[in-house]
Amino acid sequence: MATSSKRILLGITGGVAAYKSAELTRLFVKAGHSVQVAMTEAASHFVGPVTFQALSGKPVFTDQWDPRINNGMPHIDLSREADAILIAPASTDFIAKLAHGQCDDLLSTLCAARDCPLLVAPAMNRQMWENPANQRNIALLKQDGIAVLGPGSGDQACGEVGDGRMLEPAELFELTEAFFAPKLLKGKRVLITAGPTFEPIDAVRGITNSSSGKMGYAIARAAVHAGAEVTLVSGPTALPTPLGARRIDVQGARDMLDAVMAGVADTDVFIAVAAVADYTVKNRSEHKIKKTDSAPVIELELNPDILATVAALPQGPFCVGFAAESQNVLQYAEEKRRRKHIPLLAANLAQAAFGSDDNELTLIDDQGQHPLGRAPKAELAQGLIRHIAGMLAAR
Ligand code: C5P
Repeated sequence: MATSSKRILLGITGGVAAYKSAELTRLFVKAGHSVQVAMTEAASHFVGPVTFQALSGKPVFTDQWDPRINNGMPHIDLSREADAILIAPASTDFIAKLAHGQCDDLLSTLCAARDCPLLVAPAMNRQMWENPANQRNIALLKQDGIAVLGPGSGDQACGEVGDGRMLEPAELFELTEAFFAPKLLKGKRVLITAGPTFEPIDAVRGITNSSSGKMGYAIARAAVHAGAEVTLVSGPTALPTPLGARRIDVQGARDMLDAVMAGVADTDVFIAVAAVADYTVKNRSEHKIKKTDSAPVIELELNPDILATVAALPQGPFCVGFAAESQNVLQYAEEKRRRKHIPLLAANLAQAAFGSDDNELTLIDDQGQHPLGRAPKAELAQGLIRHIAGMLAAR
């Protein structure tokens, strides 16, 4: 996972959105967190505890009098073992209980007994959400320092449309990760390029680089989690926009440069992760070139170097580059860092990174080499953000 594995107590209350919490459990587990599920009796009518037991790999608790806990105090034991409690879905009734400190079942009692943060993802019909009593209760939760995640808006299981639906599992996952992340870049504006660029040859063909965009998107996500205001200038990728980032889609290197230069004055940190095509097509054809017996001649011209351009600005941002090399990685990377006059460069073996969810990065700065090892891109992105924050603080 990310920074470090967390122990999440996932509380499930009675609502049809409980089925989405199965996916949420899977996302947490996949990211390396440990998930302990506790359900209300009502929740177990929507999705059986066995589903959550299978997904979390741990027994599920529903009963305050559960004999499986040795000292007979599951509400204390379970809440003490958690780094955070997330209630998803949180029903109107459960929110009312939390707001008023009522404890008449295991889940409400362990929430009252907690000494860790509590996050709540409401899920209910729009009239129930808007009900003044519920709104008062939500305000009380916020006053008590409880994080309210959502709700979202849209189609509801009852057929109505409006506010009150639970956020999607991927959104709840992101918000929980963000909740845990130290706010190392709070107040910083971060501009990131990611993905490949696409340089058209004609109306249907083009030159591009192998790049899934996953590393750049992971960095954007980690920067958002660290509290930064993030703009992501992205070449063509199939990836969803990281929650909380502003995304600008571009095609060619020149569009990418234009988008970067338009935002660079308001940027504290520029991270160039994009695999920018070195050349663009000079004799681009507006229409599809028809196939003939003779091969067409494609004339190339050099693209602008976006990173070097930004690094050369007199009052420019703190610049971070990437170097994907297929051999002599560290030597070429250090040469590149000096040539482009950038304080920090992340180097990786190209073969190890392309398309994969993992990568192996070494950070290079004036102090030398800092290997981050081989790890999921999400984790390496956090390591990079920590390193950048450390360098900014030391300036
Ligand atoms: O020179 P090279 O392409 O190997 O440098 C890689 C680094 O420079 C990456 O950070 C990449 O995003 C950036 N770059 C750029 N504009 C280019 C070429 C590379 O910003 N035209």
